[in-house]
Amino acid sequence: SRLFRIAIDGPGASGKSTTAKLLATKLGFGYIDSGAMFRAITLKCQQQNIDLKDQEKVKQIAQSAKINFPSLSQVELDGKDVSELIRNSSITRNISHIASNTSVREILANQQRAMAKGDIPGANSTGFEHHGKVVKGVVMDGRDIGTVILPDAELKVFIEADVKIRAKRRFDELKNKGSLGDDTLQDVEQDLEARDLADRTRKIAPLLKAKDAIVLDTSALTIEQQVEKIQDMVYERL
Ligand code: C5P
Repeated sequence: SRLFRIAIDGPGASGKSTTAKLLATKLGFGYIDSGAMFRAITLKCQQQNIDLKDQEKVKQIAQSAKINFPSLSQVELDGKDVSELIRNSSITRNISHIASNTSVREILANQQRAMAKGDIPGANSTGFEHHGKVVKGVVMDGRDIGTVILPDAELKVFIEADVKIRAKRRFDELKNKGSLGDDTLQDVEQDLEARDLADRTRKIAPLLKAKDAIVLDTSALTIEQQVEKIQDMVYERL
């Protein structure tokens, strides 16, 4: 049976991952955090003191990295849990070198497309029942899922939110985790804008709304409301 694939793209701190995870839980779908994969490659390069601009060395790291998602909120790199480590600000600040590496994108794209076929390590998609039939599927979030990775996804959502609101959300999130360091709200906003600009303007697979993606502005929505809206879009397409 075919899988219902949901592609969720959008800028940083737009609530993509939280929404995608909750949505996957509600629908009984698998979840693939594509950003976590770029983060894991960045982490592995940093751990091995690889120059992030050294295209060839970075490619080798990407080829050797084994990335798994043992559960909805866990990321494993070469058998070790890196769920927390990959969220460090040094990863976030340096990731654009990895995200603009053609070889890395190709290697990860192959893995992402394989996972979108339901082959997600550790994630068991049970699906949900609809008119006596079981609908199974996957949710994948990132920057280029609707445009490059799954151009024929059954549903594409492009999440947007005012940058001030996104910065505040990220600031609160980091504060709650105790990983804010000395950063002010302005610092967080500047980092976010710099990363968005890099994502939107890179030559390969930039952050871009797919023509057939539905725009969801979450500036004034709660996570629950975001999930509900996308869930309605799924039902409309069954
Ligand atoms: O989604 P997240 O904020 O964790 O992604 C971190 C970074 O990884 C993004 O800013 C982007 O540079 C890169 N990325 C990407 N393509 C994706 C997902 C993430 O280039 N599909």
